[in-house]
Amino acid sequence: MDYFHEEMQRGLAGGQGALKMIPTFIGRPTGAEKGGFLALDLGGTNLRILDVTLAGKGKAHVTATDRFVIPPSLMGGSGEDLFSFIADCVKHFLRRFKNGGPLRDSLAFTFSFPVEHLSISSGKLISWTKGFTAGGVVGRDVAALLNEALKSKGAGFITVEALTNDTVGTLAAGSYADSTCDMGVILGTGTNACYAERANRIGKLPGLPPPDAEMIVNMEWGNFDRIPRNGYDHALDRASSNPGRQCLEKMASGLYMGEIARRILVEMMRQGLIFRGADPSLFTAEYSLSAEQMAVVVQGGDFPRESGVRELSEVDRRSVCSVFCIVSRRAARLAATAIAAVVLWMDKNLDHFHTIAVDGSLFLKYPGFQAEMLFSLADLLGDRAKWIKFAPTQDGSGTGAAIVAAVASFARAMD
Ligand code: GLC
Repeated sequence: MDYFHEEMQRGLAGGQGALKMIPTFIGRPTGAEKGGFLALDLGGTNLRILDVTLAGKGKAHVTATDRFVIPPSLMGGSGEDLFSFIADCVKHFLRRFKNGGPLRDSLAFTFSFPVEHLSISSGKLISWTKGFTAGGVVGRDVAALLNEALKSKGAGFITVEALTNDTVGTLAAGSYADSTCDMGVILGTGTNACYAERANRIGKLPGLPPPDAEMIVNMEWGNFDRIPRNGYDHALDRASSNPGRQCLEKMASGLYMGEIARRILVEMMRQGLIFRGADPSLFTAEYSLSAEQMAVVVQGGDFPRESGVRELSEVDRRSVCSVFCIVSRRAARLAATAIAAVVLWMDKNLDHFHTIAVDGSLFLKYPGFQAEMLFSLADLLGDRAKWIKFAPTQDGSGTGAAIVAAVASFARAMD
């Protein structure tokens, strides 16, 4: 937690550190925002499009939603193809739900990668994470790339009103309904967090907003690297598409949890400790074990047939489950420690109640993950842990983007 605070301090002051601490130029919503928006959520393997109506009084309704799988070839292809695919999905959505008509022209774009904001509706991609490598996007304004793609597909009547990170969307969704919510966390394919910071603590933005105002800061905590790593972590990192980066993310998120466990299983097989007599090529393909499969096995299920593992013997099941438990427990405890560090940064003596909006499949679905995080908070903070509450905020990143767009259009109207 001390190291975390050092890196937060450095990032807010504009120094080169592990935490980017990106100012978003937006504060939390009041709950009174109203309006209708199209929200587009690109975060990992899926692209989601939603039609969101904000009714005020903290109530948001999703009136239509669709999900598209991003083909792996597009994650690693050209940026142009990726954005053209996204624009096609938007057109498909409009045809399906709106008869192709321009019912909405304001788009809220959740783009869940590190972006340096130029304004609330524009920002440059700093680097790809989570296995994406699409060419020609780093350093470019991703909102402009989407606007251009929409235009070239004849959907230029839609424009990006707000560009936001999934953590910021999650915090916006959480705080729209509950004013004690001051932090948004994603524990899914990747991991990251944002929180409401006092503007006078953001040293790298001198004199911009009134000093007593608050601004949401996207921490990009997945890149935190002052944690001891073991041989499996180093091997995974070396083989990844972004070696040396996203150290915490590689220890505490869904995309990598299966890969760490797979590497341990392969080593145990090599030492003859499990799966004796099985095909030695079992689990040799990188990323062939997912966190979803781990979840099935720890709940008593089997590995999928394609993995090549026949029915698990009792002894093997026990060994495999212990490995999965160690890997997921470490992830949960790291995530809880990072949350505790941020809460203490906001409120040194824990004098106030803090609701943490959390989204992501690891947190929402992995057996025992939330419970382990709660144990860990209690270990770290003792009795004071009761001042922290998790609010599972499923699909918050999409609805939240619409809320961010509403906050942005309100701010524009006031200018
Ligand atoms: C990665 C991205 C970050 C995002 C997180 C969760 O860490 O860099 O922007 O919030 O994944 O999706």
